[in-house]
Amino acid sequence: MAEIFAGVATSHVPAIGAALDLGKADEPYWKPVFDGYAPSKTWIADKKPDVVILVYNDHASAFSLEVIPTFALGCAAEFPPADEGWGARPVPVVKGHPKLAWHMAQSLILDEFDMTIVNKMEVDHGLTVPLSLMFGQPDPWPVPVIPLCVNVVQYPPPTGHRCYMLGKAIRKAVASFERPLRVVIFGTGGMSHQLQGPRAGLINRAFDTNFLDKLTADPQSLVRMPHVEYVREAGSEGIEMVMWLIMRGALADDAKEVYRFYHVPASNTAVGHLILENPGR
Ligand code: DHB
Ligand code: FE
Repeated sequence: MAEIFAGVATSHVPAIGAALDLGKADEPYWKPVFDGYAPSKTWIADKKPDVVILVYNDHASAFSLEVIPTFALGCAAEFPPADEGWGARPVPVVKGHPKLAWHMAQSLILDEFDMTIVNKMEVDHGLTVPLSLMFGQPDPWPVPVIPLCVNVVQYPPPTGHRCYMLGKAIRKAVASFERPLRVVIFGTGGMSHQLQGPRAGLINRAFDTNFLDKLTADPQSLVRMPHVEYVREAGSEGIEMVMWLIMRGALADDAKEVYRFYHVPASNTAVGHLILENPGR
């Protein structure tokens, strides 16, 4: 049987991808960011997951205001990097895992989560930057990835509670797959940031720290947080953090934090990062 054994939370910022792609990772502004992920690269190289389920949001790259799926599951064999205005990132095409993805689609939909099934999709910085942070610059990517794209761009996004319960359904779906795959789930986006309006540049370290603490130890205290509180406390793009609750819901209640990193600034965003592991059997 397949099993989700760990979760990774990480922010995404397009400029992090650009820094890596343009050879600026060692510059003083960026070095602390990449140094903060060095232990994580070692951790994931050591754990060697068979599949990554990557919860992320699209930024009007694959979807637009014409079609806005709340939860879209990538069932394709591959997902090319999207052109976000400066050409596609020079990163490998992301290989999917259609067998597990289709199994998840069946399990989740029959479990009453109405997923959108996606058979053709380009993936933007929301997906490729977390891969770059965790794996560096390999070619090809070392692991198949199942993209799970969540609408946090156009109101209304899903509630934190719905995300957390979807995580629990994902755990069940993976556990009922017949092959013995070892799976890591990523929850991405966040932390505090606002890209527009008078509050552009907003960072709230106290809110972020409390969110990181509670995500591991007391996620129930986060699941009923209304959207307006994310926006008020963490900025308009801080709402991306609801996606981290999908990752948390897919882990054991007593999952343990094994690594944390927090750094300001990276472009307009507070970079937050956690690795959580389920207790060993
Ligand atoms: C930035 C952050 C994001 O989450 C994003 O999608 C785009 C830009 C930033 O901080 O620059
Ligand atoms: Fe974003």
